[in-house]
Amino acid sequence: MILVVGGAGYIGSHLVKELVEKEQVIVLDNLSTGHRYLVDDRAVFVQGDLGNKADLEPIFEKYPIQAVMHFAANSLVGESVVNPLKYYQNNVAATLTLLETMLKYNVKNFIFSSTAATYGIPNVELITEDCPTNPINPYGRSKLMIEQILADFASAYGLNYVVLRYFNAAGAHESGEIGEDHDPETHLIPIVLQHLLGQRDKISVFGTDYDTPDGTCIRDYIHVTDLAKAHILALEALLSGKKKTAIYNLGNGLGYSVKEVIETCEKVTDRKAVIEYTDRRPGDPARLVASSQKIYEELGWKAEYSLEEIIASAWKWHQRKGSK
Ligand code: UFG
Repeated sequence: MILVVGGAGYIGSHLVKELVEKEQVIVLDNLSTGHRYLVDDRAVFVQGDLGNKADLEPIFEKYPIQAVMHFAANSLVGESVVNPLKYYQNNVAATLTLLETMLKYNVKNFIFSSTAATYGIPNVELITEDCPTNPINPYGRSKLMIEQILADFASAYGLNYVVLRYFNAAGAHESGEIGEDHDPETHLIPIVLQHLLGQRDKISVFGTDYDTPDGTCIRDYIHVTDLAKAHILALEALLSGKKKTAIYNLGNGLGYSVKEVIETCEKVTDRKAVIEYTDRRPGDPARLVASSQKIYEELGWKAEYSLEEIIASAWKWHQRKGSK
């Protein structure tokens, strides 16, 4: 049985939808940002907090957990700058409680959702896993701290782990049943689509003076189902003993500027956006594009969805959600 912590969130719920096809799944989520309706009916659902042993221990007592996949974190860069306590409390301290409980029950396989924000402002075209990690905000630091803790726990306690550093997750499940449902929404693609659905007056483009061909920031957008599939390969690698510890980037290897993303949204939806150009948003690196060569070579994973397909799947979801 696999415990998915944060399985009611955006990325966690997409993983659960794939994983229930193969394994018995139990989801633990406090529903602070996740939604019960996103959790596939085939999974057992427990509402509770990963920082609370009274919530965790009954699960480990009751179910034969083979591995834990950890998606439960706060993930807004800007919020982490103004409220770092929340990030160190929820992302670091609570994760330590989860790890402590795993060790108590002798569960030694862990998959951790990390982020491109661990790299800070890298000075390369394609970021590889051995690039220096110099996060520039508390969110990125909170994730890097757990990565470092995992390395120490592997040496000291024989913990096996895979760290997955996501680039920009986007898109929605092909069924149209689940997708990105954040409140507030801060991510580019859902904001553009909400605008094109008439739910926002305009889109703000944050900064046009970056050192990029069109002056707007470049990101690597990766479909959430591609992310989910990478997690399943990582889980199989841990459970089979093929991997003891590993860190992998998850991206498309293709960079798109904010302007290009908006243009692609216009093309996919056949609608025209109203755009306002504003100042830079603090903490945004000019360019973040992954090399995912390592996970391709070691686990055979590569991203399958193009930017247009990502946006088309998200559009289907937002239209359906908007009509409810
Ligand atoms: N952007 C706009 N207008 C908006 C929203 C975003 O111009 O209304 C721009 C941002 O400035 C950025 C790009 O669109 O240049 C993408 O922004 P997102 O907020 O969609 O995503 P981020 O790249 O900021 O953040 C993502 C994850 C974080 C992670 C980070 C790593 O959501 O969790 O990548 O850099 F930390």
